Amino acid sequence: MRRLALGVAAVAVAAACAPDAPPARDDAAGADASSSRLFGFGSPASEDRIALWNIDVKPDGEGLPPGSGSVEDGRRLYEVQCVACHGATGTEGPNDRLVPAANWEQWPSGRTVGGYWPYATTLFDYVRRAMPQATPGSLSDDEVYAVSAYVLHLNGLLPADAVIDSASLAAVEMPARDRFVPDDRRGGPEVR
Ligand code: HEC
Repeated sequence: MRRLALGVAAVAVAAACAPDAPPARDDAAGADASSSRLFGFGSPASEDRIALWNIDVKPDGEGLPPGSGSVEDGRRLYEVQCVACHGATGTEGPNDRLVPAANWEQWPSGRTVGGYWPYATTLFDYVRRAMPQATPGSLSDDEVYAVSAYVLHLNGLLPADAVIDSASLAAVEMPARDRFVPDDRRGGPEVR
């Protein structure tokens, strides 16, 4: 992969230096000149492609997709998709604990979803973009809602019969919500 990237860079440099090279960016007509015009490869990112990557969810729930999922459906998914790495109750591992030990400040085992994460919406964002670890992006939005609901249930934050959607997920108040403060330092001597 690295070799390919270097190769592409070398081609780009060679193209830019050749006597009959396409115009440099400054000479190209307009600021919208794309690499496909300059170098003869690539294409502008379409709205659809950008939308596939533009999936961040804000703490207040902005960016959450439509859909919903139940703790019960989440349990079934968890037992197939997550249990091998996170354990039956979210505490066994072998990978990160999802449910806190008694002492939330114990690190790293204490930095769990229920013990450390200030916003439930981050759980949806994280699972959707990163889990299951070997196949991220393989769960539907409804499945991510369901498995997020189950992880919150394992943390004692949702009852067993709960069903969540964008509004109810954003309304879950995390225990660590007030353990974080805005860092309004501006840099400079007062920080050092
Ligand atoms: C193949 C193993 C594997 C599977 C399967 C897996 N995970 Fe993970 N998970 C990990 C690893 C490893 C990390 C730590 C990743 C890191 O820190 O970069 C992690 C981290 C997490 C975290 C963040 C924990 C924290 O507080 O730092 C959550 C939440 C999570 N996984 C949820 C899930 C859910 C939900 C599923 C099932 C849909 C799942 N994982 C499936 C391996 C896995």
